[in-house]
Order: sequence, then structure tokens, then C-alpha cells
Amino acid sequence: MQLLVGLMGAKKAIEVGVFTGYSTLSIASALPEDGKIIACDINVEWTKIAKQFWEMAGFSHKIDLKLAPAIETLDLLLKNNEAGTFDFVFIDADKANYPIYYEQALSLIRVGGLILIDNVLWSGKVADPTIEDDNTKTIRAFNQKLHNDPRITLSMLPLGDGLTLAMKIFS
Ligand SMILES: C[S@@+](CC[C@H](N)C(=O)[O-])C[C@H]1O[C@@H](n2cnc3c(N)ncnc32)[C@H](O)[C@@H]1O
Repeated sequence: MQLLVGLMGAKKAIEVGVFTGYSTLSIASALPEDGKIIACDINVEWTKIAKQFWEMAGFSHKIDLKLAPAIETLDLLLKNNEAGTFDFVFIDADKANYPIYYEQALSLIRVGGLILIDNVLWSGKVADPTIEDDNTKTIRAFNQKLHNDPRITLSMLPLGDGLTLAMKIFS
């Protein structure tokens, strides 16, 4: 992620799902000094740990933590006329809302911007038709939707738990 953010020359990024801040740090470290990442989470305890590490690493000035449901934070950005102004979004939070986060992210990034989505293989469950729980069904349908989405160029990396890269090609 650090490499991708650097390669793109990204200045404005969003992360949906911070936890203890590891991926936030990798993105923030590749942003320029005047770059910013909006880091969305709802958990005070975990993000308190994140803030300590951001401080220690010397990148906290680039990180704007928003403690609220990410749908609300992204909606606010859209209401503040920030559509089309972001370069990079990493989605890694509650799976049920992936389709909503994706649509919001697609509105918020510029043409040529990149959305990364984690856990798209869901431990291989998406490829097993006998598994029908809600999260598996959501991610399966989500993968299919992106596969047919003409607004993006798509690449799914089979590393870790599956990482989708979606580049916006139309506004
Ligand atoms: C898998 S962890 C994120 C891991 C992090 N991206 C990393 O790589 O280190 C998922 C995070 O999503 C957060 N989350 C869950 N539901 C959320 C919501 N509705 N809005 C914002 N964050 C949410 C959780 O609190 C948790 O910290």
C-alpha cells in the first residue's frame, strides 16, 4: 500500500477501518508532508492505541481520525463538496456495509484514483457455494458487482485474505 500510494503521488486518502492503526501508518508514511488521510473508525479503545503509534512514528499530523460510523463520515465529506478530490481509499471495516462504502468511495475519488478493499476472499468462503451466511453472501455479491462495473478497472490480488484494487476510469 505504501508503494502504491507513493507511486500515485497521492495527497488525499481515506481509510475505512483503523483498528490499531497499522495500515493507516503505512498510507500516511507515503503521503507528502501536506498530505492527509481521513481515518474512520468507531472504536475508542483500539484507536487510542493507534494514536500512540502514529505519534511515535511522527506521522500523526497527516492523520485525521473520525470517530463515527464511516458511512456518516463519508457522507459528510460528500456534503462538503469533496467528491472527486481523493486519490486513494482503503476499505477494511464491517463487511455488511462494503457496497455502501464502495459507492461513497467511488464518488469521493478522482478519475485515476484507487480503491483497495480487503478480505474479498473471506478465507475462501466466497468460492464455496455451500456457505450462505450473511457476510459471505454480501462479499460474494460485492465481488460480482465490481466484476461487472464499467466505472472501474479491476484487479483482485489473491494475497492475504484477498485484496481488490479498483481504479476509477469514469466519473
Ligand atoms: C479489520 S479492522 C481494520 C484493520 C486495519 N485496517 C489494519 O489493517 O490494521 C476493522 C475495523 O473496522 C472498524 N469498524 C467496524 N464497523 C465500523 C463502522 N461502521 N464505521 C467505522 N469503522 C468500523 C472496527 O472498529 C475495526 O477497528
